[in-house]
Amino acid sequence: MKIGIDKIGFATGRYVLEMTDLAKARQTDPDKFTKGLMLDRISIAPITEDIVTLAASASETILTDEDKEKIDMVILATESSIDQSKAASIYVHQLLGIQPFARSVEMKEACYSATAALDYARAHISLHPQARVLVLASDIAKYGIDSAGEPTQGAGSIAMLITADPAIAIINDDNVAQTRDVMDFWRPNYTSTPYVNGIFSTKQYLDSLKTTWAEYQKRYNASISDFAAFCFHIPFPKLAFKGLNKIIDKNTAIEHKDKLTQAFNDSIAYSRQVGNIYTGSLYMSLLSLLENSQALTAGDKIGMFSYGSGAVSEIFSLQLVEGYKDRLDTNRQAYLDFRQVISVTEYENIFYQEAELDREGNATFETYLTGDYALRTIQEHQRIYEKNDK
Ligand code: HMG
Repeated sequence: MKIGIDKIGFATGRYVLEMTDLAKARQTDPDKFTKGLMLDRISIAPITEDIVTLAASASETILTDEDKEKIDMVILATESSIDQSKAASIYVHQLLGIQPFARSVEMKEACYSATAALDYARAHISLHPQARVLVLASDIAKYGIDSAGEPTQGAGSIAMLITADPAIAIINDDNVAQTRDVMDFWRPNYTSTPYVNGIFSTKQYLDSLKTTWAEYQKRYNASISDFAAFCFHIPFPKLAFKGLNKIIDKNTAIEHKDKLTQAFNDSIAYSRQVGNIYTGSLYMSLLSLLENSQALTAGDKIGMFSYGSGAVSEIFSLQLVEGYKDRLDTNRQAYLDFRQVISVTEYENIFYQEAELDREGNATFETYLTGDYALRTIQEHQRIYEKNDK
């Protein structure tokens, strides 16, 4: 049975911070961010936008009423949880009006868990071919004012509808995963920003890629020339570019190297303008590739490298389906350009804002721009979401 991505949607914060403005405020050469990290701007999410509103907004762009009647599982992958107990997917399930006889869970392993969610969805559909699974990857990346990671922040969600006989891409049965216990990036429950061993984390990312790729090649007798494109988890595009150069070897024909490099440039177009969206980052790179590449055709094989600090990595592949372009947005750039540019001071105000709860656990918020959904209030410690008026 062919199982894979039938639809893919995206949402990001409605505010954007220019890297040149941030560089100026941090007394840094702007080239360090735009050339050294390959980032032009990053999305900023206000307090009324969280993993639930982003995931619901991303889903709203792709789901029909029929999908909502047929979805029987909602998996939300995140490392920006809003609750230690209740799964964020339950809120999304309710906001979207998905039929009640569905399973809703949240999954965690840094930036990696959406990949595990896809595999779970695939296993579920192979047992129940009529099932439709909504896989959500939703995160807000916050590192801290004036930290090394600050320019690599971001906010966004990818929503994928996983079905049998998918219209976009088949998920091949060729996953190779790797787990290694390292402290490259982690966030204990008592902090809102992570502890990061930045340079060490980049080495772990690249070494996980190298060793997982070697194992993948061995198990599947694979070569880079089997792939029309390779998508990477993108904490910032420069690191993914280093990743690409790790897997292009001396035997790769020059034309194929050029093809992979062009595909890589297409795959980082959104990331350059959004930043790191953690769990959704690899899938935003896929979206960017599919929507911007003029070279890909049905049947092409796309390699996927997923990495989550801690660390778990995985390589698997997708096969493009005839007509996949018809399922994609033709002007995503307009959506990105629609974001409101904010100053560094406005960004810092948003960064530090926290819910000020009264004794009964109530909080209200100023009105901010969000996607289709917003966190309106907190009442007696309960988060109250609403759909925005159009
Ligand atoms: P940094 O201070 O920007 O490091 O921190 P740098 O001084 O090495 O500079 C970065 C690049 O800019 C270098 O390029 C410099 O040469 C260049 P490279 O040599 O590496 O090719 N550069 C310039 N280029 C042009 N003009 C200039 C200039 N100056 C310097 N004037 C660091 C980098 C990665 C440490 C930081 O961004 C950070 O801490 N980021 C957060 C952690 C991170 O993203 N790690 C990535 C791997 S871990 C991962 O992917 C998982 C993650 O997504 C989380 C999860 O799984 O949940 C993070």
